[in-house]
Amino acid sequence: MIPGEHGPVRGGAFYDAPQVADRYLRHRHSGVHSPNHVMEEPALLDELGPVADLRVLDLGCGDAAIGRTLLAAGCRSYLGIDGSAEMTRAATATLAGTSGRVDTMDIEKFSAPPHAFDLIISRLALHYVDDLDSVLTACRRSLSPGGRLLITVVHPVITSHEARRSTEQARTDWVVDDYFHTGARRRSWLGDTVTWYHRTIEDYVTALTRADFAITSLRECAPRHDRFDGDMAEFARRRRVPLFLLLAGSRP
Ligand SMILES: C[S@@+](CC[C@H](N)C(=O)[O-])C[C@H]1O[C@@H](n2cnc3c(N)ncnc32)[C@H](O)[C@@H]1O
Repeated sequence: MIPGEHGPVRGGAFYDAPQVADRYLRHRHSGVHSPNHVMEEPALLDELGPVADLRVLDLGCGDAAIGRTLLAAGCRSYLGIDGSAEMTRAATATLAGTSGRVDTMDIEKFSAPPHAFDLIISRLALHYVDDLDSVLTACRRSLSPGGRLLITVVHPVITSHEARRSTEQARTDWVVDDYFHTGARRRSWLGDTVTWYHRTIEDYVTALTRADFAITSLRECAPRHDRFDGDMAEFARRRRVPLFLLLAGSRP
C-alpha cells in the first residue's frame, strides 16, 4: 500500500523511463497476444457507435492509434493529451497527415471551455489518476449536452492486489485481496515501477454518478472469439480472469 519510497510514481513519468513506452507499444500492438486487442478494443468499438462530426478528446492517448481510426470514421476533430513526452512523440507520428492534434499534459491539469467536445474517451489511463472526481467534473463541464464519456481502466480485481507469481509463464489465475482497501498501489510493470489507484467497481459507478453522468454501459470486456485467429487455447486462457472494466455515461 506504500506508493513508492519517494511518493507516487506518476503515469506520464513512468512511460518516459527508458524503454517503457517502447515495451508498452510493442505489447499493445501484438495482435492475439495483446489483451487490449482481444478484450478491451472490441468492447470499446461496440460502445463507440457512430462518430461522424463529433469533436473528440482522448485523455491519456498513448500513441493515439484510436485517433487515426476515429478521424477515418469521420469525427470532426481529435485531440489527444498524454503526460508522457515519449507517448506524445509517438502520437504525433501516428497523426501525421491528419487534422488530429496532441498535447503533452497531465490529465489532472487539462481544462477546456464548456461544451468544447461531444465525446471524451480515456483508455486505460484513469487508474493512474488519484483525484478522479475532479477529472470527471472537468469532463462533464467540457462536454456538450448529450455528450458522451467512454472510459476503460484496468479491472478492479487486478488493481486490488499484486499477486505473487512463482513463474514467468502466461497468467492463468489471479489472487484478489484487499479489494475494499482502496487507494494507491505500487505496481511493477514493464520492467519499472508505477503507482496505480485501486477503486472498486462501485467506486467508479458512484464517481460517474456524482459527476452527473447518466451511466449507459458497464462492461467487463470478455474476450472476443473472432479476435484470436483460431488460437483457442489463448481464448480459453483469456476467459479465466477479467482484465478490463469499461464504463460509459452521457451528460444530461
Ligand atoms: C496504458 S497506457 C494507454 C495508452 C492509450 N490510451 C492506449 O489505449 O493505448 C496509459 C497512458 O496514460 C498516460 N498517463 C498516465 N497517467 C497520466 C496522467 N496523470 N496524465 C496524463 N497522461 C497520463 C501514460 O503516459 C500512457 O500513455
